[in-house]
Amino acid sequence: MQTLTQLSTPEAIVLEDRYNAHNYHPLPVVLARGKGVFVWDVEGRQYYDFLSAYSAVNQGHCHPRILQSLYEQAEKLTLTSRAFYNNVLGEYARYITEYFGYEMVLPMNTGVEAGETANKLCRKWAYQVKGIPQNEAIILFAENNFWGRSLAAVSSSSDPVARADYGPYLPGYQLIPYNDLAALEEALQNPHVAGFMVEPIQGEAGVVVPDEGYLRRAYEMCQAKNVLFMADEVQTGLARTGRLLACDYEGFRPDVLILGKALSGGVLPVSAVLANRAIMGVFKPGQHGSTYGGNPLACAVAMTALEVIRDEKLAENAFKLGEMFRGRMEALIAKTDLVTLVRGKGLLNAIVIQDSPEGQTAWNLCLALKDNGLLAKPTHGNIIRFAPPLVMTEAQLLECADIIEETVLHFRPTDQQ
Ligand SMILES: Cc1ncc(COP(=O)(O)O)c(C=O)c1O
Repeated sequence: MQTLTQLSTPEAIVLEDRYNAHNYHPLPVVLARGKGVFVWDVEGRQYYDFLSAYSAVNQGHCHPRILQSLYEQAEKLTLTSRAFYNNVLGEYARYITEYFGYEMVLPMNTGVEAGETANKLCRKWAYQVKGIPQNEAIILFAENNFWGRSLAAVSSSSDPVARADYGPYLPGYQLIPYNDLAALEEALQNPHVAGFMVEPIQGEAGVVVPDEGYLRRAYEMCQAKNVLFMADEVQTGLARTGRLLACDYEGFRPDVLILGKALSGGVLPVSAVLANRAIMGVFKPGQHGSTYGGNPLACAVAMTALEVIRDEKLAENAFKLGEMFRGRMEALIAKTDLVTLVRGKGLLNAIVIQDSPEGQTAWNLCLALKDNGLLAKPTHGNIIRFAPPLVMTEAQLLECADIIEETVLHFRPTDQQ
């Protein structure tokens, strides 16, 4: 077996920069270990993880129960492909459908694959059930959406950085402003609209929370026009926002539910699309799939990851700590000009930094936070997302709020780091 050398932080960064594609701009910290809300770098420095791998590690790093399921299943059977049945997928399918209240699930791996699956499901349903003429189906998306990096995802994106030089783009997408019911109403006049795929809170866009009632009303408007409401809960789902699903705040169940990230607690890529039989039934053998989708290892891990969310009351904890966190940030805003706004739900929050999106202030502030033992990352330049694991205690949250407050109050925006 290839043995790993003990690299220092600069050595690891040089290696990655030299041999790995530069498709990310990581904070200069090299992590080697994680447990619960903490991660440690190669020199053994401890940090609070305030990103949770973009909300994939809701259950905390290396959760012992999830790892136990991983080890136990890994010793028995990891992958069969769907060419054969395996003895875990059926149990998992029953478990996850009952858990979320749907009739059927389609298992995939990454979030973008689940989004892609929802798009394909919507188009097939449009032609076979709704009766839209072939190749005419439109799927609506909100501006500033983010659902991954595939060609379909960038074709339906309004982000020039994510899109540039990837054309030609897929047709059949229409963008409307987020949180704008009038724009949705107008778009729904087109009888070729098959679906509306939307994040209940726009995570990557900078934790943009729509007005109360927007989602429910949008769902009702879609229902009235026989248009599928497809909720992308890849980032907002699984207790992150203080409810199991962010849509739960508005008391309705989307026609199509898209999940990923924390479905495995950060252990391996597991995603899923849930819908009732009248919709999911359009897929027939050979029409969609994935070699790893529904593999027994993923199924065993996902069941435990979902159990942990319920058993440890992570939604309730996220709700309570989120209120405290935003309270502390509001108090901080009163003491500084550097932070202009805090927004979010549960433990999916962001602060807006007094700077242009092109400015370096938020990045430099994240470097200062790192030096003070807390890891967070800017999104869209001047916004910093705060999304710690949901297993955080009240005392830990207060300590983190102290770190953020101290760092902000001692920060000089002109510091070049
Ligand atoms: C809302 C949303 N959907 C989909 C995705 C894509 O997930 P993945 O990176 O696992 O493909 C993301 C990733 O950040 C996301 O935030």
